[in-house]
Amino acid sequence: GKVAVLFGGRSAEREVSLRSGAAVLAGLQRAGVDAHGVDTKDYPLARLKEEGFDRAFIVVHGRGGEDGTLQGALEHLGIPYTGSRVLGAALAMDKIRTKQVWRAMGLPTADFDIVRRKDFQPAMADALMARFGGPVFVKPSHEGSSIGMARAESAAELRAAIDAAFEFDDEVLLERFIDGDEYTVSILGERALPAIRLRTPHTFYDYSAKYQSGDTEYLCPCGLSEPEEQALGELCLQAFDAVAASGWGRVDLMRGRSGQWWLLEVNTVPGMTETSLVPKAARVAGLDFDQLVVRVLGMAD
Ligand code: DAL
Ligand code: MG
Repeated sequence: GKVAVLFGGRSAEREVSLRSGAAVLAGLQRAGVDAHGVDTKDYPLARLKEEGFDRAFIVVHGRGGEDGTLQGALEHLGIPYTGSRVLGAALAMDKIRTKQVWRAMGLPTADFDIVRRKDFQPAMADALMARFGGPVFVKPSHEGSSIGMARAESAAELRAAIDAAFEFDDEVLLERFIDGDEYTVSILGERALPAIRLRTPHTFYDYSAKYQSGDTEYLCPCGLSEPEEQALGELCLQAFDAVAASGWGRVDLMRGRSGQWWLLEVNTVPGMTETSLVPKAARVAGLDFDQLVVRVLGMAD
């Protein structure tokens, strides 16, 4: 049947999604799938039925695509789609509630706090800084691609970073800064793909490191021993499951200097650009890009 590759949308990650969408569309077409691109920005989804689409491959990142709303519309229309269902998408898009679930389940995630626009006062930054007793990572709760994120080392920096994050979100996550290395584990079906370790000359793997500068090193295999890699894969599958994510996705985490793992977040519509992580991990596992997108599409229901 006819497959709609849904991309674009209106979120702050629109530009990333345009690139992910173009790559997925090309991959499906090379594999012989009757796939057509649909930019969801100004598109009433009911048209999918009229235009005869019988499956959707979701490549819209961020709000309006990765947060359960698009998934809900497709449920309503009865069109099978890739990736997480409504709950998993909505929960994983919310970094604060994701961490609350992990903490409640005893999964390792760094100490955190929440600030809300409606009750935040600049004077609170001093007490918050003191409470963490060291550098704090500031993140809009519902963004992706590191948009609006900053590291703060003083109350003044924290205030500025919280204000900047409020440009993107009413809820902001403050997280204890983990000194260590950044890793990511791609999930495909019931299986964790080989972990990737990211080495960036930037303070962290930020928007520029992700899409613009080309100066990040991607280590895959990542250098862990086989039992360590196995344990990491199991931890990530648990973390993915805990937020009701399904089908495919990516779990991001840090490894502290002592080797302790700290879960950061789950992406239910991970980047699929030429430099993206899931395609890299899939390649190491023996699947090229076209095989990967066909596999993800095959799980749509
Ligand atoms: N949010 C971006 C697209 C990612 O996780 O890859
Ligand atoms: Mg993300």
